[in-house]
Amino acid sequence: MAATAPVQIRPFQPGDRSEVLSLAPRLTEGVAPRRDPAAVRRAAQNWVQTSIDAAARPGHAVYVAIARGRVVGVVSIREQAHFTGQVDAYVGELAVASGMTRRGIATALMNVAEAWAAERGLAFLALHTGAANQPARSLYRRLGYHEEELLLTKAIPARHKHPEQATP
Ligand SMILES: CC(C)(COP(=O)(O)OP(=O)(O)OC[C@H]1O[C@@H](n2cnc3c(N)ncnc32)[C@H](O)[C@@H]1OP(=O)(O)O)[C@@H](O)C(=O)NCCC(=O)NCCS
Repeated sequence: MAATAPVQIRPFQPGDRSEVLSLAPRLTEGVAPRRDPAAVRRAAQNWVQTSIDAAARPGHAVYVAIARGRVVGVVSIREQAHFTGQVDAYVGELAVASGMTRRGIATALMNVAEAWAAERGLAFLALHTGAANQPARSLYRRLGYHEEELLLTKAIPARHKHPEQATP
């Protein structure tokens, strides 16, 4: 069996940009399939771009996982006010390269995010994930996360013209 490459977690550097952006499509996994796939892909790209652009700003951080000199995982974190006014640490994006999963990389990235939050004296680490994203839900459950809110959606049936309103 081939030896597993050691993985190092370190802060994002500008030279990581393109490799981190290449992980953005991973964030489309677990999004409700009824959403527009092209719009989901665009949004995922924007989330990652926004996070790496803000990485050096106070109250923001991005960490990468490196194996064999390549970026194989990313987590972004920032301070964000909860509606109670309490400032949480909020994980924006977490992604691990396909082919590098189930090796503890996401767990290591989340541990670093948790240490970042603890250093700031923040009481909670919060994040959103897709209800259909079973791998992520399983990961977060294992890491001790509790479900605090649910987003409910109902599809609105397409509006058909009433026959009496139809123009002749
Ligand atoms: C979810 C994701 C981040 C997990 O990364 P990872 O590096 O494989 O996670 P870890 O190796 O640290 O896994 C830790 C635990 O999470 C759970 N888990 C991870 N992947 C899983 C899978 N495919 N199915 C079920 N459970 C899974 C398991 O409990 C796992 O422990 P185990 O391997 O001992 O059973 C990765 O699959 C990914 O990048 N997915 C696409 C992007 C995404 O969904 N991001 C999160 C959105 S908020």
